[in-house]
Amino acid sequence: MDKLVITGKTPLHGEVTISGAKNAAVAILPASLLINGFCTIENLPNISDVKLSCTILEALGAKITWISEHAITIDSRNITSTSAPLDLTSKFRASYYLIGALLGRFKSAEVGMPGGCKLGARPIDQHIKGFEALGATVDVIQGKISAKADDLVGSSIYMDIVSVGATINIMLSAVLAKGTTVIENAAKEPHIVDVANFLNTMGADIRGAGTDVIKINGVEKLNSGFTYSVVPDQIEAGTFMCAAVASRGDLIIKNCITKHLDCISAKLVEMGATIEDLGGDCLRIYCDKRPSKATVKTSPYPGFPTDLQSQIGVVLSTSEGTSIINESIWESRFQYTEELNKMGAKITAQGKTAIFEGVDELYGAPVYASDLRAGAALIIAGICANGTTEVYNLEHIDRGYENIEEKFRKIGAKIERISE
Ligand code: EPZ
Repeated sequence: MDKLVITGKTPLHGEVTISGAKNAAVAILPASLLINGFCTIENLPNISDVKLSCTILEALGAKITWISEHAITIDSRNITSTSAPLDLTSKFRASYYLIGALLGRFKSAEVGMPGGCKLGARPIDQHIKGFEALGATVDVIQGKISAKADDLVGSSIYMDIVSVGATINIMLSAVLAKGTTVIENAAKEPHIVDVANFLNTMGADIRGAGTDVIKINGVEKLNSGFTYSVVPDQIEAGTFMCAAVASRGDLIIKNCITKHLDCISAKLVEMGATIEDLGGDCLRIYCDKRPSKATVKTSPYPGFPTDLQSQIGVVLSTSEGTSIINESIWESRFQYTEELNKMGAKITAQGKTAIFEGVDELYGAPVYASDLRAGAALIIAGICANGTTEVYNLEHIDRGYENIEEKFRKIGAKIERISE
């Protein structure tokens, strides 16, 4: 079992380049199944969820050629199966996008129930609601989701809850449907817009992505042979922004879309950080004093992202005074606070609320990542803590962060990956 050994406490200084967005890439890859042709996808993050997605696509008959560490060509002309391997699909959440893509093109899909971070129940009723609205029959039997349709006909779907996954999955299943599909109360995250842009590049007709009403006019034919570049990762950028403030450092974040970071920037500036938009795709963030207390409420975009909740929790653990986090999306996303308390933090988590009594210092300790973002938060905590921290369960972190220890080492962290 690998571990990261981190020696704090080190203010982070320098430049970090953000990779392509995990939550866009894991939707764009299955979306390529819609094409009876091939396409090239660039700026893919080099993470295990992308590699796993490629393995599943190849198991279905797609031909994948790696052009570089971050670019592939996918040829979906000879798909041999619409039933995804159960043992692979259960390893992550985004396998559910295979349903929308396979149903959309072949009117048939069989995919194991998705896995992913343990954040609570994580139902898929809204995905099923969308597929059924288009005319599919969906059964969930023995841990598998089976969707079939004689025909897919556009329909209006009002989402009962704002759902990133369901919004994307309904888009995928509607691209080749007859007529127009309207998704109301749609999610608006940057990765939703990126998936819609990818689909439109392949010849789909999608308008309104990024607003709460998305219209998909079904088309009969899609393009082949195009190239698409994945959007920079809003959450990775926000992770390093929190690291800059927590470590009292000074970072330049490159290859980011600053507009996507407004929700994070506003909160960190409110707490005392300084952020400069350097133009293009760059920002500078620094904080040379103790941040002030804050109240953080996670909500769908453009609100404060739940995927940055644990990272800002590290900032709050040593901020001035008493802070509060309300986690509105997931029932169980405070496991990391128990690990931070082992490092000297004073956090009381109850249900969807956590109270942070700011302490002067954190101290190194052995800590265990419970999910992808909690793992990133514990790395930040180790960098800010006095002494040595060992972070375990790295498989969570490697799912969504490319070469995380190298990126942190380049900006001054004393961090090593040790294989035990
Ligand atoms: C996506 O998960 C992300 N994962 C999550 O990021 C992220 O936390 C989440 O969106 C919210 O932004 C990927 O994109 C692969 P949802 P998803 O559907 O699609 C409820 C990370 O760290 N809901 O937007 O599963 C659900 O229980 C990961 O990168 C239903 O009730 O999230 C939750 O309370 C962790 N029924 C809320 O909606 C449904 O059918 C939002 O979930 C679907 C969702």
